[in-house]
Amino acid sequence: MDIARTPATPDGNPEMADAAGEPHQPPEIRREDYRPFAWRVPQTRLDFDLSLERTTVVATLSVERNPDAEADPVLRLNGDEIEPLYVKVDGKTVNEWRMEGGDLLLPLSGSTHEVEVASSFDPSANTQLMGLFASNGILCSQCEAEGFRRIAFFPDRPDVLSTYRVRMRGQKARFPILLSNGNLESEGEGQDGTHWAEWHDPWLKPSYLFALVAGDLVARSDSFTTRGGRKVALNVWVREGDLERTEHAMESLKAAMRWDEETFGREYDLDLYNIVAVSDFNMGAMENKGLNVFNTKYVLADTETATDGDYDAVEGVIAHEYFHNWSGNRVTCRDWFQLSLKEGFTVLRDQLFSQDMQSEAVKRIEDVRVLRAAQFPEDSGPLAHPIRPDSFREISNFYTATVYNKGAEVIRMMRTMSGEERFREGTDLYFDRHDGEAATCEDFVRAIEDGAGLDLEQFRLWYSQAGTPKVSVRLEHEGSTARLHLVQTVPPTPGQPDKHPMPIPLKIALFDRDSATHDGERLVILDEAQKTLSFDGFARLPVLSINRGFSAPVTIERDISQDDLVFLAANDDDSFARYEALQDLVVNHLKAAIEGSLSESGRDRTRGAIAQAIRAVIIDDTLDDLMRGELLVLPSETYLAETMLIADPGRIHDEKEGLKADLGRRLKTDLHALYERCEQVPYSLDPAARGARKVKAQVLVLAAASDPAKAADLAAHQYGRADNMTDRQSALMVLAGLPGVERTDALLDFYNRYAGNALVIDKWFALQAGSQHPSVLEHVKALREHSDFTLANPNRVRSLMMTFAYNPHAFHAASGEGYRMIADLILELDRINPQTAARFVTPLGRWRRIETERSALMRGQLERLASATLSRDTSEQVIRSLG
Ligand code: PHE
Ligand code: ZN
Repeated sequence: MDIARTPATPDGNPEMADAAGEPHQPPEIRREDYRPFAWRVPQTRLDFDLSLERTTVVATLSVERNPDAEADPVLRLNGDEIEPLYVKVDGKTVNEWRMEGGDLLLPLSGSTHEVEVASSFDPSANTQLMGLFASNGILCSQCEAEGFRRIAFFPDRPDVLSTYRVRMRGQKARFPILLSNGNLESEGEGQDGTHWAEWHDPWLKPSYLFALVAGDLVARSDSFTTRGGRKVALNVWVREGDLERTEHAMESLKAAMRWDEETFGREYDLDLYNIVAVSDFNMGAMENKGLNVFNTKYVLADTETATDGDYDAVEGVIAHEYFHNWSGNRVTCRDWFQLSLKEGFTVLRDQLFSQDMQSEAVKRIEDVRVLRAAQFPEDSGPLAHPIRPDSFREISNFYTATVYNKGAEVIRMMRTMSGEERFREGTDLYFDRHDGEAATCEDFVRAIEDGAGLDLEQFRLWYSQAGTPKVSVRLEHEGSTARLHLVQTVPPTPGQPDKHPMPIPLKIALFDRDSATHDGERLVILDEAQKTLSFDGFARLPVLSINRGFSAPVTIERDISQDDLVFLAANDDDSFARYEALQDLVVNHLKAAIEGSLSESGRDRTRGAIAQAIRAVIIDDTLDDLMRGELLVLPSETYLAETMLIADPGRIHDEKEGLKADLGRRLKTDLHALYERCEQVPYSLDPAARGARKVKAQVLVLAAASDPAKAADLAAHQYGRADNMTDRQSALMVLAGLPGVERTDALLDFYNRYAGNALVIDKWFALQAGSQHPSVLEHVKALREHSDFTLANPNRVRSLMMTFAYNPHAFHAASGEGYRMIADLILELDRINPQTAARFVTPLGRWRRIETERSALMRGQLERLASATLSRDTSEQVIRSLG
């Protein structure tokens, strides 16, 4: 049962501006101001007295002057909303310290000392979920990026590396399980029902990788023997009732451990690996050394409650956190500007892992879809920043699709240019050179240059320039020569009006029209503003396939006929390029229709061509259903908006729905046969069965637009006989968008069936908030008042409100009501959980790219926010969005 915690009353957050009216600008931190810390802290000892309401910590730091830094006789220990109880230096209480903001400044006379500072705080009042907080009675820490300072006074920066010894004590009945990083060295019973445990982590780590968990938990246990023969005990810790849903997480962990040995030569380095699942968490998961903390969403899965997509997400996130043990923990970041060093690289690693576990081609398309949905809009909006930012006010705001996903694409390009084997030599060198260090993106690039033998001089621009490059492509033919003209432009972004040309690796192939084959894939590097390449031996104009496999994270503007796109959609042997041709067909058509530049007959002809291309996909028996399902997904409204300078969300929605209805009618017979075939496939987790479920979902989506009554029937039937969550959810998704009694019945059934399972009730909220139903706005308003809705749980808030904010047809209601609802939410949530609140500013920040009337309404809500008293997190995003 989800015990919804009531939000604590906000009691004057010191981060907030004191006078309403003037937006308070928190100070800017700049990358170029980096200086090494004046002190080293080789050893840290933490002594915890745990309780939900008042936890005290005694931190003992061995400190010594850092010979590589400018000397500073004052030791600055960061703190945030914690209270110092006493300070000792070399065992003696001292009073010559002072507070500056939340920090404790301690003058030191010598060059080595032992500093002891005691502090205390109330975990149950911690609604931000940073530092030590209580989730369902479990005490749990979250320190990245700057949460450790909410636990103990410490130089809370990633370049201060220390070994940690942690002793913790608490009531045995309340906290039977006591966990921290590294190895359990001793444990015992205390007085008055207490017990204690002492943990030691032999590896140097920054404070953001510290973790502590105390609570009533049970584990699924297993073991893994490394290539080097180390036997590692593995545990996945959850609340009692959740144990049966941890098998997939455990299997994913073992697969990730094996894969990292084989693919990157990385072995695990402790005898113990613990994963803990908690229900209240701002992010997906956290890679704390030897003690990962996960959002339950990325641990728990079984057939009845998790979709195929959920299974993949669990596998991907488990792997991601595991891979951080090397890319992030053994080699960490010098400062937070280097975040992409660990995140971009680790995302690439988890993508490659998932490609190997599942279908490589399908995974690539999915990753590109995520990039386009989340990162492209970021790169073209007011929050655009390079993968290595130059400044920030609140680092939490820079855990972005740019740092993560574009960061992964940038490293993937290095791999494409060097080839897999050379790339591996580069990463080996990187790990070798920087093991045990806090490194920079520049260190990574240099290691790849030296190890893989690449010249990345100009390529470094990918780290410093924001904005998605655009490549215009034209292919000409004369005699026996085909000429490829390429022109690149990198758009201006905030603070970066002028850009230099970047090296853009493009995989291309030239198809012969008759044989539908090509003479091999080529890699061309566009490293100037323009380039023309000639290819001999073509009697006719070939068909160009470009940016195959999405070899570069750019937008391609190609001068290509509809017939050639149909040709590629049917014949390209690169599945990404094939997908892309289909997408372009649809995007080009919808753009023309929205601009009004299509005649009725032109519209009919193009719709016919699209239907023909989709029919080819439906009947092509060389395709597996997983890929077929992927190819049937039409471009999202968000992506369509992104391809237009100024978008009219209402028109985009109407045209896309119109196309879906038309395709559903034109392809009725084929779709019906396809659905019937897939319906025969029994449930299993193998690719064929998963593909069948994916195809069925896409058929339902098209049917819902073309023949709602029939779709309601089909979906209700699928819902009723579903023996797994994937089928049940896709049916309910379609039903939730249709008027009628099937909708109400199914939603009620779903709620009753899964009452008490928080993750599934999250789906129930999300399905309604993301629906195509005309009254979705009213539904969301009502759900906001539902007794299961709470602002204290980030998953619940995101299920309802983030889904709503990214449902264009709801959020962009012409009245502006959607914008107002999001602004209301931000104001309320900001007092409870600023980090999560700040993420809701992004959709409002799109105002410059939206037609004038809606644009003014969006801007109006941002101005309303700017005049309120906001957290550092939210104010930074609001001010940038107005910028
Ligand atoms: N470092 C985590 C990850 O990518 C994400 C995270 C960031 C979690 C900040 C919590 C807080 O795996
Ligand atoms: Zn990560």
